[in-house]
Amino acid sequence: MHPQDKNTPANDHWSQYRCPTGVLGREVALSMNKGHWNLTTWGLKQVNVKTDFIILDVGCGGGKTISRLARRAGHGKVYGLDQSLDMVDYSRQINRKLVAKNRVEIVHGSVEKTGFKSEFFDLVTAVETYYFWPNLADSFREIKRVLKKGGYLLIINEMVKDGSYEVENAELIAKTQVHLMALEELRKTLLSADYRNVEICKKRKSDWNAILAQK
Ligand SMILES: C[S@@+](CC[C@H](N)C(=O)[O-])C[C@H]1O[C@@H](n2cnc3c(N)ncnc32)[C@H](O)[C@@H]1O
Repeated sequence: MHPQDKNTPANDHWSQYRCPTGVLGREVALSMNKGHWNLTTWGLKQVNVKTDFIILDVGCGGGKTISRLARRAGHGKVYGLDQSLDMVDYSRQINRKLVAKNRVEIVHGSVEKTGFKSEFFDLVTAVETYYFWPNLADSFREIKRVLKKGGYLLIINEMVKDGSYEVENAELIAKTQVHLMALEELRKTLLSADYRNVEICKKRKSDWNAILAQK
């Protein structure tokens, strides 16, 4: 069961990030599409997106990353997945022309059980979302299942656990209910799930970070 199936929509802005729902959720989607633009520009530079790639954007939220990936993978296809039905609708609307051309498809579901067939994707992206996943090890294993051999998982984040960020941003962390992990912990979890070539990328003089791992 997905959170929104059993809960009433979160009624304050900050608690919406976990599962944006309703009118407030759509406002948050719009603000994320704008607010995550520069982070995503930086993060997507960490991987070479080939024009024929089949890509999954997990926790796609407002759907802007899907549009950007579809532009790059002009001869491929981009799928989006989100646990919020309202974000699935929002992303479909934002990408309606690409959906009509069958270049984009957006589905409702959760990262630990995506429903996609095995060895299907060249790249899986996850922007500002791992913090909410209920079980990281299971989620990484499920992503590995749907990746082709040699395919990539790219995780892009603006928050970090490095000993000072979580102290300086304790209020934000509590309000958004994120579960932060140190980059080294994330790397170890990926290695335990049998990923290889796990690379940690950090933007200079910034908290922005990305992790690239290969199946
Ligand atoms: C902070 S938003 C980020 C949205 C988008 N990636 C962006 O960068 O703007 C987090 C998104 O991840 C989704 N999400 C959280 N946990 C999820 C899960 N277990 N499976 C699928 N989606 C999830 C939420 O519904 C929400 O849309």
